[in-house]
Amino acid sequence: MNSKKILLRSRPQGMPNESNFEFTEQEVSSPAEGEVLLKALYISVDPYMRGRMSETKSYVPPYKLHEPISGGVVAEVVESRHSKYKSGDNVLGNLPWATYTLSDGNGLHKINPNLAPLSYHLGILGMPGLTAYCGLLFIGEPKQGETVVVSGAAGAVGMVVGQIAKLKGCRVVGIAGSDEKISYLKEQLGFDEGINYKTTSNMQEALEKACPEGVDIYFDNVGGEISDAVYTLLNNFSRIIICGQIALYNVTSRPTGPRVEPLLLTKKSLMKGFIVSDYAERFEEASKELATWVKAGNLKYEESIAEGFDKLPEAFLGLFKGENIGKQLVKVAE
Ligand SMILES: NC(=O)c1ccc[n+]([C@@H]2O[C@H](COP(=O)([O-])OP(=O)(O)OC[C@H]3O[C@@H](n4cnc5c(N)ncnc54)[C@H](OP(=O)(O)O)[C@@H]3O)[C@@H](O)[C@H]2O)c1
Repeated sequence: MNSKKILLRSRPQGMPNESNFEFTEQEVSSPAEGEVLLKALYISVDPYMRGRMSETKSYVPPYKLHEPISGGVVAEVVESRHSKYKSGDNVLGNLPWATYTLSDGNGLHKINPNLAPLSYHLGILGMPGLTAYCGLLFIGEPKQGETVVVSGAAGAVGMVVGQIAKLKGCRVVGIAGSDEKISYLKEQLGFDEGINYKTTSNMQEALEKACPEGVDIYFDNVGGEISDAVYTLLNNFSRIIICGQIALYNVTSRPTGPRVEPLLLTKKSLMKGFIVSDYAERFEEASKELATWVKAGNLKYEESIAEGFDKLPEAFLGLFKGENIGKQLVKVAE
């Protein structure tokens, strides 16, 4: 059987484009003893993958040139010679961008198709949902009546952050890049206010209006000038959760922003970066509560799903143009 694969052809300088990816097709053999053959159903595209396309060392190693891109995949076991898996099982794993893959089972997790739609395990019940939950609750520690600002608010992480903050009784202000996204946040997800940063000429003024009591928690998914504006409104003892900096992922020289340290000092603020895996020990409790909220309808969820393996590069590049609402996935097979 043949498997389609996508490799890293070249490392992007600045904004990545289609030419950085290389399509190939290779034969996959039947599984050997202790292996499973997996068919990809949903493949996740995530902003952190941009970092892995560069050579710079980070918390995950760079992708190797001319080897497959990899990331979160929900797959079906089509053939098994592994004692833990049988044909028809659904699994989640960190796997190559390929239609079929052999695995020795290392790092695979069985998922229950009756718990929620399979794709949810790459979004609200997977890495992005856990990121929102752990970052907001364990670092932000939101309290009733506080004001929470979230940037990248209509994305996979941001829309969960805002909804959890609402469940905790906070006033929630979302920043996102289109009127459609802002309407969605306010009308469907119950955000109190929304700001379209692409059409707002004075972010500081817009934020002052949206946050009359100042900002107690800033959940930052984007960084850059949006964050600079939020910092001017920080309250005493505010918490700034540095989750992502997508506005800076494609810059070729890093701009110098305002020096925030004097502000952090006088406002006695906490600014903390984190990577979701730091909270691995708390994933079980977090997953349970997220699943309960989803089942009860307390957390709504949105996905942007592109159809077909060949759409992977385009779907990934779309993250940097704001083309997705909610979690961006690619559906590869039924
Ligand atoms: N720390 C961790 O462990 C962890 C885990 C997961 C994700 N993250 C980070 O969290 C952030 C959100 O991730 P996600 O998976 O939820 O992605 P996402 O928000 O679903 O998709 C990315 C969104 O970022 C916005 N964006 C793109 N370029 C931008 C720019 N220059 N300025 C402002 N906004 C921009 C776009 O929305 P607009 O239309 O609003 O521009 C786009 O839809 C990313 O920075 C990611 O790296 C961190």
